[in-house]
Amino acid sequence: MIKEKLLLATTNQGKAKEILSYLSDLCITIFTLKDIDQTGFFTEDKKSFRENARGKSLFYNKFWPNLTIAEDSGLEIEHLNGAPGVLSARFSEPQATDEKNIQKVLELMKGVPFEQRKARFVSCFVLSQKGKILKEIIEYVEGFIAFDKKGRYGFGYDPIFFYPPLRKTFAELLPEEKNRVSHRGRSLKKLKVFLGGYLDLTPKA
Ligand code: IMP
Repeated sequence: MIKEKLLLATTNQGKAKEILSYLSDLCITIFTLKDIDQTGFFTEDKKSFRENARGKSLFYNKFWPNLTIAEDSGLEIEHLNGAPGVLSARFSEPQATDEKNIQKVLELMKGVPFEQRKARFVSCFVLSQKGKILKEIIEYVEGFIAFDKKGRYGFGYDPIFFYPPLRKTFAELLPEEKNRVSHRGRSLKKLKVFLGGYLDLTPKA
């Protein structure tokens, strides 16, 4: 059986790892940006996750003949009026690191009581082919900003995202546990159903 070739338009390794492992039982081969010869990079400067994901998907699809998948994701904190939001990856500075971003959030949330530390992660996937958008999926997961970092798994803000149903931060969850409840796990579930139907794929037994 010929495997469908998909482009996953991301350079974020943490994210790519989660997406690749979730889709690994489908009969597809996934390429990432390091496998293609594109000219330039898409600048994620839009006001919403949806607009960034649309722009990213259509931009990289110009350099790829088949289906292109792009995701924009991030953290929204109620007390900070939705920040860091679309700026999640570079919240502390343009060349931010996960650690610096976490420290900035903890600093801004200093002294804020637990009940006012509500936050959510957002994951928005946009699939395109031949310059047209085929499908958009957006999912969320709600939690609270912890007072300190905890856990060693995951990436980004996982060590300070406390998920009440499991009484753990996302960084305390094993990858498969996080996928079961996370914003990305939820959107990937829908993406998988869509891909299964669209490409007529049958998961391996
Ligand atoms: P982008 O979607 O590559 O633009 O970046 C999203 C940024 O949001 C990441 O660099 C992380 O800082 C944050 N983020 C998105 N999803 C997650 C997650 O599952 N865990 C922790 N941080 C995340």
